Amino acid sequence: MRPIHVFCALQCLPAVWSSITVYNQQPFGDMTKTQSASAAAASYTGAAAFDPVVLVAPPVPNPAPPTNFFQQLSSAPVPGLSIPQAGYFFGFSVEFSVINQVLGSNSTRLQVPFLNLMSNVQARGGSVRVRVGGNTQETATLFASLPDGKMMEKQAQVTDDPTHTPALLYTDDVLYMLANISALVNVNWYLGIPLNDTSHLRLGIAEVGEAILGDRLIGFQVGNEPDQYALHDHRPPGYGPANFSSDFGIVDAALRADPSVPVVNGKLIGPSLSGVWQPQEVWDVDFIPDHLQSLAELSMSFYPDNNCIAEFSGPNATGAINSQTVFSNYLNHTSGQHIAANYLTSTALAQTYNLGFLMIETNSASCGGFAGVSDSFGSALWALDYGLQLAYSNFTTALLHVGGQGVYYNPFTPPPTNMSSFEGWTIGAVYYSVLAVAEAFGTSNKSQIIDLQMNTNNIYTPGYAIYDGGVLARLALFNYVSDPTGASAYTVSFAIGGGTTGEANGTPAQVKVKYLVAPSISDHENITWAGQTLGSPFQSDGRLTGTEQVETVTCNSDNTCDIQVPAPGFALVFLADVSADAESYTDVKTFPTTILTNTQDTISINPSVLATSNGNAGANFIEGSTSQGKKPLSGAVRFLPHFTVVLCIALGVVSVLWGQ
Ligand SMILES: *[C@@H]1O[C@H](CO)[C@@H](O)[C@H](O)[C@H]1NC(C)=O
Ligand SMILES: *[C@@H]1O[C@H](CO)[C@@H](O)[C@H](O)[C@H]1NC(C)=O
Ligand SMILES: *[C@@H]1O[C@H](CO)[C@@H](O)[C@H](O)[C@H]1NC(C)=O
Ligand SMILES: *[C@@H]1O[C@H](CO)[C@@H](O)[C@H](O)[C@H]1NC(C)=O
Ligand SMILES: *[C@@H]1O[C@H](CO)[C@@H](O)[C@H](O)[C@H]1NC(C)=O
Ligand SMILES: *[C@@H]1O[C@H](CO)[C@@H](O)[C@H](O)[C@H]1NC(C)=O
Ligand SMILES: *[C@@H]1O[C@H](CO)[C@@H](O)[C@H](O)[C@H]1NC(C)=O
Ligand SMILES: *[C@@H]1O[C@H](CO)[C@@H](O)[C@H](O)[C@H]1NC(C)=O
Ligand SMILES: *[C@@H]1O[C@H](CO)[C@@H](O)[C@H](O)[C@H]1NC(C)=O
Ligand SMILES: *[C@@H]1O[C@H](CO)[C@@H](O)[C@H](O)[C@H]1NC(C)=O
Repeated sequence: MRPIHVFCALQCLPAVWSSITVYNQQPFGDMTKTQSASAAAASYTGAAAFDPVVLVAPPVPNPAPPTNFFQQLSSAPVPGLSIPQAGYFFGFSVEFSVINQVLGSNSTRLQVPFLNLMSNVQARGGSVRVRVGGNTQETATLFASLPDGKMMEKQAQVTDDPTHTPALLYTDDVLYMLANISALVNVNWYLGIPLNDTSHLRLGIAEVGEAILGDRLIGFQVGNEPDQYALHDHRPPGYGPANFSSDFGIVDAALRADPSVPVVNGKLIGPSLSGVWQPQEVWDVDFIPDHLQSLAELSMSFYPDNNCIAEFSGPNATGAINSQTVFSNYLNHTSGQHIAANYLTSTALAQTYNLGFLMIETNSASCGGFAGVSDSFGSALWALDYGLQLAYSNFTTALLHVGGQGVYYNPFTPPPTNMSSFEGWTIGAVYYSVLAVAEAFGTSNKSQIIDLQMNTNNIYTPGYAIYDGGVLARLALFNYVSDPTGASAYTVSFAIGGGTTGEANGTPAQVKVKYLVAPSISDHENITWAGQTLGSPFQSDGRLTGTEQVETVTCNSDNTCDIQVPAPGFALVFLADVSADAESYTDVKTFPTTILTNTQDTISINPSVLATSNGNAGANFIEGSTSQGKKPLSGAVRFLPHFTVVLCIALGVVSVLWGQ
């Protein structure tokens, strides 16, 4: 457990924080994409999610990791493999209070970039898991309607609440919105039942959630980080694991007594601990056997660090963390290992009960993350390594949190609502990690992963092997070193079978490789995955741009194969003779956003337009287009079955619009 720092600002704040989203809209400066990053950084006063600060890359470690080494592999499964994993392993957790910005403003105005971002993951991993919840689920209350016709509204800030959580009012249109998203992209949902008040339970989310989402609903989290309740005065002092287990039982019983909630068996999720209580403390009060019938999965919620002092008391407050000093904590293999190690007993226990094990909310640091760290290419490598480590440690799903614009770690952030309607989304470094994990596991649901402890377990050059359907299929190779000279790129030479393995030589004649790279570990604008990018801040509509590059490496005649990994960089090596489709994603279903309007709903779309269109929608494709928006598409819009939309728009149109 992390040490407890005690500091006092307006009040004494407990130090074990997590999942705290800052809800107050921060002022936006004159930040535009035409400003150079360095110029903007010096005077940047805008929201964290768009902070252009770039840190100094740590020097090449001394001693430097060996840059040529051998790795023996076995084609047949080896001891120590994880349980089978699916391509949806890495998903997203979206704070309830920001879904109107991130998912859509209502059930008929979806955010097209969000659809595209989900579609990219779906194409690689089959489906996507998204949780709507967080601290804001605890005070969320369902209303039949809201006065202004909105689907969601925040009540005034509760200023004496250290989690700064506003009460949230919403209508069932939120659930229709999720259902409409799932009709277009293969997204399944986690929701949360409020547990702030066990004497006046609010089960509305379960009632409308089950009715509207049906089998798109994976389950309901009951209790968001209950180990922090007493710290935040949400429960009396002394509230412990047995008290939580009892509260969980109260909700369970109430759901079973509610005729509007037909399914309770296998639908509840807990205990979602944040690190204040150890998991074993909750297992010790028989949480699992007592609620087994109702449990869908066991869950945890964890951030390896926090930036709370700076967040609440300013960057110059005593004890505030300077981003540069923590950067290197994210740039080696031990970070993910240390986090995962704390749950190994628990993931083994979950297997004995045949329950999934979910990291329901995580990211680089709570209280917003760290400027220049959480949004850097280093964080992309960190999250990718951490995600694969959780999979190797027998978690079954992990969800990267999306907070508001006040956080640095978002996988994706929509532009501020009052900014130019020509601005696009900002895609965070860790989004690329999700793409790479989805490809690493693929769509079979039968991928097992092992940490190779590669290069004599050097912490800067970790590697994993992935077996798919019982056959060695892919390698995931990292280089955390940042070295512009090129001297720290490494070459791993591997052999499948042969040697002392007892297997026949099995190295293929050639392999295919995709790289996740950026010019530097601190870069956050020029990240590419297999040659494609989601662009610099304010540039994305959620579609990858550029030509996909899959390298072919011809192996050696002596049963070895040499793979280079740049410094910094990540390589996903495809070994098996899988079909070309499994490696190339040039036909990802996308949704168009190139017709822009001057309204706040710029890149949102009525899903029924997509669903019912006969393919001749043309300029009327986007609901609410203004005359400016009715610029004709420069390419054909073609509809395939199952809402598949293949949009061929000359990239020129996009760049012309972005260039304004
Ligand atoms: C969604 O919002 C749009 C734009 O504000 C509005 O026209 C539409 O009626 C809303 N849909 C629903 C279902 O409330
Ligand atoms: C729980 O949240 C609801 C909605 O914000 C609020 O009305 C209620 O007073 C809260 N209960 C407690 C015990 O804090
Ligand atoms: C989208 O949501 C609306 C409710 O506003 C509903 O009437 C409609 O059927 C939904 N469309 C789809 C495709 O689910
Ligand atoms: C926790 O449970 C114990 C045993 O039922 C009870 O005595 C105690 O009051 C509870 N504490 C809190 C803070 O709920
Ligand atoms: C923090 O200190 C620096 C250097 O002294 C100063 O330039 C900056 O304005 C201070 N920031 C705040 C928020 O006080
Ligand atoms: C590696 O990462 C760990 C965990 O974040 C950190 O404690 C350690 O200082 C890092 N090691 C180096 C040499 O930077
Ligand atoms: C994951 O589960 C498998 C199957 O039970 C087990 O063999 C393996 O040791 C576990 N991995 C870890 C890191 O505990
Ligand atoms: C956006 O809103 C903020 C806060 O209300 C305001 O300070 C800023 O000037 C607005 N920007 C634009 C471009 O309208
Ligand atoms: C993988 O699992 C998902 C979710 O359970 C399921 O929908 C899908 O059909 C499975 N895929 C295969 C190939 O079995
Ligand atoms: C990042 O890419 C842009 C073009 O998209 C280019 O102008 C810029 O030089 C690149 N920066 C680095 C550090 O490579």
